[in-house]
Amino acid sequence: MERYHVFCNSFFQICMVSVVILGIESSCDDTSAAVCENGKILSNIIASQRVHEAWGGVVPELASRAHQQNIVPVVDAALKQSGKTLPEINAIAFTKGPGLIGSLLVGNAFAKGLSLATGVPLIEVNHMEAHVLAHFIDASPNFPFLCLTVSGGHTQLVLVENVSAMKVIGETIDDAAGEAFDKTSKMLGLPYPGGPLMDKLAGQGKPDAFKFAMPKAPELNFSFSGLKTSVLYFLQAQQKHNSNFVQENLNDLCASVQFTIVEMLMKKLEDAVAFTGVKTIALAGGVSANSHLRKRFVEFADAKSLNAFIPKFEYCTDNAAMIAISGFFKFQQQLFADLKTEPVARWKIGS
Ligand code: KG4
Ligand code: ZN
Repeated sequence: MERYHVFCNSFFQICMVSVVILGIESSCDDTSAAVCENGKILSNIIASQRVHEAWGGVVPELASRAHQQNIVPVVDAALKQSGKTLPEINAIAFTKGPGLIGSLLVGNAFAKGLSLATGVPLIEVNHMEAHVLAHFIDASPNFPFLCLTVSGGHTQLVLVENVSAMKVIGETIDDAAGEAFDKTSKMLGLPYPGGPLMDKLAGQGKPDAFKFAMPKAPELNFSFSGLKTSVLYFLQAQQKHNSNFVQENLNDLCASVQFTIVEMLMKKLEDAVAFTGVKTIALAGGVSANSHLRKRFVEFADAKSLNAFIPKFEYCTDNAAMIAISGFFKFQQQLFADLKTEPVARWKIGS
């Protein structure tokens, strides 16, 4: 693998032309591939796995199998759409973790095989760092900035000093914000993943119709599991008197649950801004697609005269464009991996 590094170094230094990165994402239930050239995204193909809908959540075994079916056509489509061919690729960036180990293994094994066959070097990418770096696809937040990363598996407040220096200053001590959306949606009979549908129905409901517990967590951390219990007990009590309670109040229930989750996120973001004194804030991860959160986020930034960054919808949920751009930054620092690289289910930012 060392020879690849030498090749890469000299190629980059001698030619100083374009750097083309193939990004591969397979950490959960989206198989995605993207191509970026000098930080500009040329293609971003995402195959979302529908197989999990019938089970009300991601089934790891089924996710791994679906990645295996999707990965070749997805990479092929990403290359075709970008107009680039394999010999033009300078590095293969892939998600090393965190995520479901079986899902990660598929991307990891595919990237290694492609690297071995083509001689193109590998770059390991941390999925949570990539969510943060997705901002650099279309914008350029000034450092330091604070990123609230909210996804199906994580909820983090990340202090970003530069593209390769990030520190988690707060995170969930139990469920993630996306899980809180998905699990409460399930209680309301909505299909998986419930977050986007809850967002839609909430638009027709009253956010103050019902009050739910806002569990407290120390310092800049979050806790969402108590909210789940609060919603469950409330629904059980109401359904004793009216078995149609959920159907009759669905929009108001969605609006009230969404309001509660968003207030909990915003409270900690506000505390973190006060604590760090940053002038720039960013929102990332699947839940950053939530319309109420986006609105509250921008209102808060306006009120405090902060610069606010929110990625385009296509870069909020899992995608390989964020992996490719992260790979591009690591390529500039010549941070390559060798063929011994293994996927990791847990991988803390900055470690
Ligand atoms: O970042 P992501 O695609 O995958 C993980 O890394 O987990 O996030 C997926 C999560 C799911 O929990 C999904 O319900 C949530 O993002 N989500 C939303 C919305 N769109 C996606 N939650 C609330 N409102 C939305 N509009
Ligand atoms: Zn994600």
